[in-house]
Amino acid sequence: MADTNTELLVRRLREAVGAEGVVTDAQQQAGYTRDWLGKWQGRVPVVVRPADTTETAAVVRICRAAHTPIVTQGGNTGMSGGATPDASGAQVIVSTTRMNRVRAIDPLNNTLTVDAGVILAHAQDAARQAGRFFPLSLGAEGSCTIGGNLATNAGGIAVLRYGNMRDLVLGLEVVLPDGRIWDGLRGLRKDNTGYDLRGLFVGSEGTLGIITGAVLKLFPQVSARATAWVGASDLQQLVALLERLRAACGERLLAFEMLSQDALDLVLQHVTDTRAPMAGASPFHALVELGDTAPHGLQDMLEQALAQAMEDGLIGDGAVVAASQAQAQAFWKLREGISQAQVRAGPVVKHDIALPISALPAFVAEAGAAVRDAAAASGLAARVINFGHLGDGNLHYNVLLPAGLAPEAVKAATVLLNRAVHDRVAAFNGSISAEHGVGQLRRDELRHYKDPLEMEMMMAIKRALDPNLIMNPGKLL
Ligand code: FAD
Ligand code: MLT
Ligand code: ZN
Repeated sequence: MADTNTELLVRRLREAVGAEGVVTDAQQQAGYTRDWLGKWQGRVPVVVRPADTTETAAVVRICRAAHTPIVTQGGNTGMSGGATPDASGAQVIVSTTRMNRVRAIDPLNNTLTVDAGVILAHAQDAARQAGRFFPLSLGAEGSCTIGGNLATNAGGIAVLRYGNMRDLVLGLEVVLPDGRIWDGLRGLRKDNTGYDLRGLFVGSEGTLGIITGAVLKLFPQVSARATAWVGASDLQQLVALLERLRAACGERLLAFEMLSQDALDLVLQHVTDTRAPMAGASPFHALVELGDTAPHGLQDMLEQALAQAMEDGLIGDGAVVAASQAQAQAFWKLREGISQAQVRAGPVVKHDIALPISALPAFVAEAGAAVRDAAAASGLAARVINFGHLGDGNLHYNVLLPAGLAPEAVKAATVLLNRAVHDRVAAFNGSISAEHGVGQLRRDELRHYKDPLEMEMMMAIKRALDPNLIMNPGKLL
């Protein structure tokens, strides 16, 4: 883009959203042009921050007329580089963070209508204040936005019970790539009037339009919880325990998270105020939580189910049921601390994979051998940091590389390790992208593994809605 064109573009955008809605200073742009992991760094002439849907539509029309690609950004907490522009300086960021109003709450219909820039924790608070529960929960909930959650189809720790973001949304409002506004803000649980247009935008990672509003599903408040830490001698034990707890506790089973000993050690080493819940090491650990609308003897139920599982040999290394809320929080701190610990420990090759739960033990055994071979071939000491949402069959099967390794060596190792892990995922009929999205991190991997016909159908949808390909080019597809 020539300088005069850029100036003209910025002027038009400023006219559309006001001076407070544009950020042109490079220093002030720093929090937008780089992702939180520090993996990607982009460059833009302007960050635009529309205040509402009408302004967003005006911004899209201006960008479309100027053939300027748009990178939509919410809280910028994504793991796959989807919200970071490229380094050309030819794209603009549209940040939704000023669109942060709770629009309506309908306790009888159990729905909450929000702007897309509302922070997830604020949506949870709004539901709580109305005596309801919005269940999406993840480590970044204090800064990620509902729009980002929708665009990545976020998962988190309660998918087992409530589903992922796709299951938690009833209606959407979207600014389309031509600047028109689609008002699909319906709070209906049944609506068979044709194709699932709402579903198209969930998981679309900013490539089909800008989500500006959403109607979310609410649930009865979970007022009682019981939490336990379990040590297991192998993964098969945890898979069997999951099934046992499902049978014993039914819908009350809210979370079943897994950490390998290496993942736990990493947190203990890098996150302050943490301590191991049990003496001694175990190859695998589970963090289990039950929840209910009333106490209903939850603590007893969990203790009995675990005692029975121990008697039946399903738990090799013991279990601790949290005796207080503080102890439960300390358990969760260990689980939630892994992302941060990894950043501090060194370069990480991230894998966000989904597998049939029954296949997890065999996958982990095979992938472990493949990673060892790949690491040996590149002469590197690699350490698998395996953890994740076992109840959903979603592993963060990450590989930690030596601290201080040169970027070129990290790049070369990433190619080998991706192939080692993702080939096994494909062999077990799994997915190489479970909840973090494809973004720019897994774009090449997606092309490698996804059925060409599925890629063709996705591209056809993309071209139909965004013929000028201005929405987040270089991401996902
Ligand atoms: P951004 O990072 O800003 O954007 C993400 C993608 O969505 C980009 O492609 C962007 O273009 C697009 N986008 C954003 N807003 C819109 C919009 N309004 N319209 C259209 N497209 C849009 N994820 C999980 O699923 N489970 C977890 O357990 C989990 N744990 C995490 C823990 C930590 C500590 C962190 C930092 C992240 C974690 N994540 C997890 C990643 C998760 O995807 C994001 O935190 C969140 O869902 C993204 O929201 P965001 O507003 O930050 O989106
Ligand atoms: C989590 O579940 O903690 C995050 O999704 C995983 C990560 O940080 O890689
Ligand atoms: Zn996760």
